[in-house]
Amino acid sequence: MARILITSALPYINGIKHLGNLVGSQLPSDVYARFMRATGHEVLLICATDEHGTPAELAAAKAGKPVDAFCAEMWQVQKDIADGFRISFDHFGRSSSPQNHALTQHFAGRLADAGLIDEVMEKQVYSLADGRYLPDRYIEGTCPNCGYENARGDQCENCTKQLDPTDLVNPRSAISGSTDLEVRETKHLYLRQSKMRAPLTEWIESKTDWPILTTSIAKKWLNDGDGLQDRGITRDLDWGISVKRGAEEWPGMEGKVFYVWFDAPIEYIAATAEWADATGGNWERWWRTDKGADDVRYVQFMAKDNIPFHTLSFPATLMGSGEPWKLVDYIKGFNWLLYEGGKFSTSQGRGVFMDQALEILPSDYWRWWLVSNVPESSDSDFTWESFQAGINKDLADVLGNFVSRVTKFCRSKWGEVVPVGGAYGAAEAAVIAEISERLDSYQVHMQAIELRKACQELRAIWVAGNEYLQHAAPWSSFKTDPEAAAATVRFALNLIRLYAVLSEPVIPDAAQTMRAALGAENAEWPDDVATYLDGLTAGAGISVPDVMFAKIDDTAREALEARFSGGN
Ligand code: MF3
Ligand code: ZN
Repeated sequence: MARILITSALPYINGIKHLGNLVGSQLPSDVYARFMRATGHEVLLICATDEHGTPAELAAAKAGKPVDAFCAEMWQVQKDIADGFRISFDHFGRSSSPQNHALTQHFAGRLADAGLIDEVMEKQVYSLADGRYLPDRYIEGTCPNCGYENARGDQCENCTKQLDPTDLVNPRSAISGSTDLEVRETKHLYLRQSKMRAPLTEWIESKTDWPILTTSIAKKWLNDGDGLQDRGITRDLDWGISVKRGAEEWPGMEGKVFYVWFDAPIEYIAATAEWADATGGNWERWWRTDKGADDVRYVQFMAKDNIPFHTLSFPATLMGSGEPWKLVDYIKGFNWLLYEGGKFSTSQGRGVFMDQALEILPSDYWRWWLVSNVPESSDSDFTWESFQAGINKDLADVLGNFVSRVTKFCRSKWGEVVPVGGAYGAAEAAVIAEISERLDSYQVHMQAIELRKACQELRAIWVAGNEYLQHAAPWSSFKTDPEAAAATVRFALNLIRLYAVLSEPVIPDAAQTMRAALGAENAEWPDDVATYLDGLTAGAGISVPDVMFAKIDDTAREALEARFSGGN
């Protein structure tokens, strides 16, 4: 039995995420966590909302709410949606927690003590009317390049030129519209990441088993130099973690907060502390190698744009502290999920958002399509046609149909009990041999977090049952050899029990339905397939579950296509 710490990249608080976000971290982390738990390991699955920074302030302002109230509300919304998708977080925390305040300040203090923080004077735009410094994107004005009047301080949307706020002609505050702006000198902290190049390089070089996607991005940033530039870790904002050196005030840094990307990954640790505080657990045995965490295998899940922060910045923070923190052992990074060949777009209403998905269809339908099409080695494309085919063929025709035919036939001939009589023969032995092999490979893929391949095996395991049933045809043999038909149905019922357990990491609700129908609530992960398929004893009660998966017809598909095509 191993101990496995799993973290899913923290969803940003500013709004409800779309399916592309779900498939790039939360969902695969849950599949892996469920598999590892089912196969007997001790797992801790951690996530949280990422709540600080300018976008949170902007979203709150747009919603007309104080930012702390906005974040509290959105945390609940995101948590409910994660629950709706059956994401089995052991804890879903908040980066604004007191635990994260303390830990973030602690790390800053340690880094400063280690000589890894510089204090730098910078010029920044201050708005007298708003009484605050303005981040680049809070400043608007006329683009010096193309004359567009609503260019932002970081970039002109019209001609895409990267800008500095001081480049803008007639700059004004995006908050109040005021032009009463002045450039002031203000002090900021820089993390001297460049000093960490040697240990970081050595560490990444040692990760020979990481996916190429992860290491290629890490090495690119490492070698370009860009990724390891000294990095500003403080901001002039109200909302955030105030800059302190451990528990001490930091002279000259009053009124400033840490940059959101500095405190967000620290929340992985803080969320574990939140979990410990809530449950009486011990967070240090997951995170401190001097307190037992050297036995932990730590796996992170994220989309590829997050990889530089997790391979360079966060490890730089942990290593730079000089304390024995647990570093990640394996990073599973994902490519993008496209929507009908293009990008998901929040502003254009293009694509499906997590809350909408759950209103349309049960979570297992989404989970199955998304996990079996997860963008592992390249981007993948969500199309309604592919979704329809995946649901109708894999879930309804293969799995759902098998469960329904077997349980209904059993009920009609023997009643709601596992039929007595007959014995398994060559046909059953062949299925056992095939499934044993496929189970091995299913487990190997799950352990390696090759989720597409795992889904292919799972599907093949379902197909094996269908084909068996088709050949054994108990509805015919029942007339001539009822004992043989009884053995077939008993074997098929045992297959459903096996399917319940094996499918649980991917489609947990359907798995629960199958377990309940077979009275197999406590069935454990199979060891030996032959023994397992003898596990349901003749005479045990069963029931016929309600239809597990309804097919999506063409009319319904077309309506969905139209509804989510964007342009609203
Ligand atoms: N909120 C970031 C995003 O949505 C991810 C943060 S991951 C963390 O891309 F490690 F920083 F927390
Ligand atoms: Zn322009």
